[in-house]
Amino acid sequence: MGSAPENGGAARAPTGTRDVLWPESWRFEAAAARFAQLVQGAGYGLLQSPTFEYASVFRKGIGEENDVVGREMYEFADRDGKLLALRPEGTASVVRAYLQHRPTLPWKAWYATPLFRHERPQAARYRQHHQLGIEALGVADADMDVEAIWIADSFLRGLGLARFTLHIGSMGDGTCRPGYISLLHEHLAAHRDELCEEHRQRLDTNPMRVLDCKRPECRAVTAGAPRLLDHLCDACAGHFQRVRDGLGALGVPAEIDYRLVRGFDYYTRTTFEFASAAIEAAQNALGGGGRYDGLVEMLGGDPTPGVGFGIGLERVLIACEAEGVFTDGPPPLDAFVVDVAGGDAARDLTAALRRAGLRADRAFDGRSMKAQMKLADRSGARLALIVGPEELRTETVLLRPLRGDGGQRSVKAGEVVAAVQEERAGKDGT
Ligand code: HAM
Repeated sequence: MGSAPENGGAARAPTGTRDVLWPESWRFEAAAARFAQLVQGAGYGLLQSPTFEYASVFRKGIGEENDVVGREMYEFADRDGKLLALRPEGTASVVRAYLQHRPTLPWKAWYATPLFRHERPQAARYRQHHQLGIEALGVADADMDVEAIWIADSFLRGLGLARFTLHIGSMGDGTCRPGYISLLHEHLAAHRDELCEEHRQRLDTNPMRVLDCKRPECRAVTAGAPRLLDHLCDACAGHFQRVRDGLGALGVPAEIDYRLVRGFDYYTRTTFEFASAAIEAAQNALGGGGRYDGLVEMLGGDPTPGVGFGIGLERVLIACEAEGVFTDGPPPLDAFVVDVAGGDAARDLTAALRRAGLRADRAFDGRSMKAQMKLADRSGARLALIVGPEELRTETVLLRPLRGDGGQRSVKAGEVVAAVQEERAGKDGT
């Protein structure tokens, strides 16, 4: 006997991935469409880039010791022996595309893309998730950070979300961060034995990650640790103040978070994250981002500032469900054609309705009247258009409302499209 099949013999999606079926998939698309409208209206252009890259893009851009690269990236050699990676995040890919095509700066790009991380699957943490994001390259101005944050905040609020908090912080830059890291390391090393097992080991490679540890033993040590925001150089402090002032001016409420450490090492200066109070704390980040003024250089280009964010679409929809907002469904069908007189009317009338821009469906396989009416009802259509032998003889169609009140009426076959259009206009209030 061969080895057990990897899918356990069942037809199922790989661990940590999910299918999104109708009508949830409709909300998924609708939210992405709203995002597209918002960012296009702010001067961002869509970037479509491959779902996989040479692994070196992420190794160089994100860093080998980073969890997303070191532990979670789907990396493989292709049939030519090239080392590739399924994209674990969007920013390094955008920077790679910038370096390849050199669009004029400032370059404002947006994306909607699946991302892949081999995480321990749990609620709202998947091995394939989707992000809606923007990246603006070539602008050092703090007002660009404000623009990015405002866009993310507007998108979430536009969906109706209200129970979330925006956390902002600063990672400093090459002038102030090294000195702060020494101070932090000194503090943590003096308490090494009190830290959790994982961070006792990792303290020397990346002391800032300890600030992000949620375990109580680490929390106790980091509560008294020096804070980067108290050690920013004048330029970084001025930048942070301008961001705070900008958010204040635009009415975007933000909380300063002294511990905000984002998962990537490329950040400089501003970082931010949106935390939902409506979903489970461990996975409550709806999105996050920040400035990464050194990333273009890390990938081999000239020093070029950048700032952006990624919003987790699955998380956002979970939060919407928890808050009972963005409950829109797909628009209903205008009509469902029920033909118990041979099927020609179903074929021709459905086509005529669709040609006129109406949403229409029909039954197939010559089913009984009862079965077809059941399908019509289940389709959510506003009207059933019924054609039986009597209608065929008199060249009429029976128009029966399926929702709300109003009785059925007989309409001349040649006027049925106009009648459905009228019904729709009446229901839409147009
Ligand atoms: P990130 O914080 O790793 O940032 O991801 C952004 C958002 O994607 C998270 O806040 C979360 O909503 C969602 N997300 C991440 N991992 C998962 C997962 N396994 N399952 C479900 N949702 C997930 C970035 O990726 C940066 N590239 C963002 C950025 C853009 N920074 C600057 N520009």
